[in-house]
Amino acid sequence: MGILNALSFGVGLLTGTQIGLRAAWQRAPRPHPRVLAGILEHPLRLKYRDPAQTLGPFGLAEGMSVLDLGCGTGLFTGEMAGQVGASGVVYAVDIQSALLEQARRRTDDAGLSARVRFHQSGAYRLPLLAESVDIAILIATFSEIPNAMLLLEELRRVLKPGGRIGISEEMPHPGYLPAPVVRKRLAEAGFRYGGQQGNAFCYSLLYFRE
Ligand SMILES: C[S@@+](CC[C@H](N)C(=O)[O-])C[C@H]1O[C@@H](n2cnc3c(N)ncnc32)[C@H](O)[C@@H]1O
Repeated sequence: MGILNALSFGVGLLTGTQIGLRAAWQRAPRPHPRVLAGILEHPLRLKYRDPAQTLGPFGLAEGMSVLDLGCGTGLFTGEMAGQVGASGVVYAVDIQSALLEQARRRTDDAGLSARVRFHQSGAYRLPLLAESVDIAILIATFSEIPNAMLLLEELRRVLKPGGRIGISEEMPHPGYLPAPVVRKRLAEAGFRYGGQQGNAFCYSLLYFRE
């Protein structure tokens, strides 16, 4: 096989695999496989996922209570804990205990564990009091949760009146949803649009609970 044939075969195989993987994910959204946890902290991802920059559009401040829903390995949990300060709290929630354990270790190592409460839980029934959260943040997580309506109803319950939802999605994720799809779901659930930042490759949306 000539080099060009081999190259086009490789590109075709990769494209086919990507299309198949993405179609399967859209049909059946699922949690990020724990054996692929390393991808979440890969240097290539960190090029567009600097924690401070990613959280910038969400306006965290001292004393806030923040929900890091789908915290994964805790890449953003420590930055959240830093931004809310000693008077704030971060609820780091994930459905997978192995990832939550990594997040816990990372937070301990950073000396921030006094500000973070870890919970293993699904998104439809959070172990949090009603109206206890200033902002719920979902980074590369919204598209992994099959029933957006159940998720958003639960977020409405735990958010304080006037509380916010921050959602960020990225194209390398096989479940990636384009911004108009996510915006439609938030509008249907009755959240007020607060703005969009970034680009189609990696964008962030802000919403308010009335
Ligand atoms: C792609 S990872 C993103 C992790 C982290 N936010 C980050 O960006 O590095 C998505 C995370 O959401 C969690 N997740 C998926 N479905 C969930 C659900 N229904 N309830 C709670 N967590 C969920 C997964 O276990 C996974 O850790």
